[in-house]
Amino acid sequence: MSNAADAQASLEAVLKDEIIRMYEEVADDPTAEFHFYHGRPAAELFGYDSDLLDRAPDGAVNSFAGVGNPHERADLKAGETVLDLGSGAGLDSIIASWGVGSTGSVVGVDLNPTMCLKAQAHAASTGTAMECHEGRMEDIPLPDASVDVVISNGVINLSFRKRRVVEEMFRVLKPGGRISITDIVSGKQLSQSIVNDPKLWAS
Ligand SMILES: C[S@@+](CC[C@H](N)C(=O)[O-])C[C@H]1O[C@@H](n2cnc3c(N)ncnc32)[C@H](O)[C@@H]1O
Repeated sequence: MSNAADAQASLEAVLKDEIIRMYEEVADDPTAEFHFYHGRPAAELFGYDSDLLDRAPDGAVNSFAGVGNPHERADLKAGETVLDLGSGAGLDSIIASWGVGSTGSVVGVDLNPTMCLKAQAHAASTGTAMECHEGRMEDIPLPDASVDVVISNGVINLSFRKRRVVEEMFRVLKPGGRISITDIVSGKQLSQSIVNDPKLWAS
């Protein structure tokens, strides 16, 4: 491996630990101070329907850590299969499962197995089934052409390999499938001191 590849691999490993630490903290102690919007105030700010937030379990709503509302354009239909990339505590998966109904299905993928367990427990408490696979969005643990829609909320910005993530989304989509993601982009080049700070990258 070259020096640059070595440096990226070690930064990626540090970042993974920081991502796991940070989003577990949001899930375990949502009332703590975070320097990003989260919980119900964030979901309301992004236009989530209040009725859906009332129906969803408090644990999923309070730990919501998205950056927008991928449901606005997902246009889910009964019977569809949805992949929620970086499903976190499960709010987006639960809302998607209501969108596709009992004939559809929602599969979450999260690099943190603890978040997968939380999301599945939150979904089960609403009477909906959501299956969550531990895995990375850079190597989605699903077969080719297996989902109708990919949703994701505030996750792709966390990756070092964004082109790879996009390739993976297209690989798992069925022909004619759809992608509805909300994420963060920067209009200007960030300084190296920001890029190299795992705490800032992770949030
Ligand atoms: C911004 S939150 C997701 C918000 C979620 N949609 C919700 O409803 O609250 C980030 C989640 O993405 C997961 N994540 C971060 N990097 C990932 C990766 N490379 N692959 C899969 N999941 C990842 C984190 O573990 C965390 O649970």
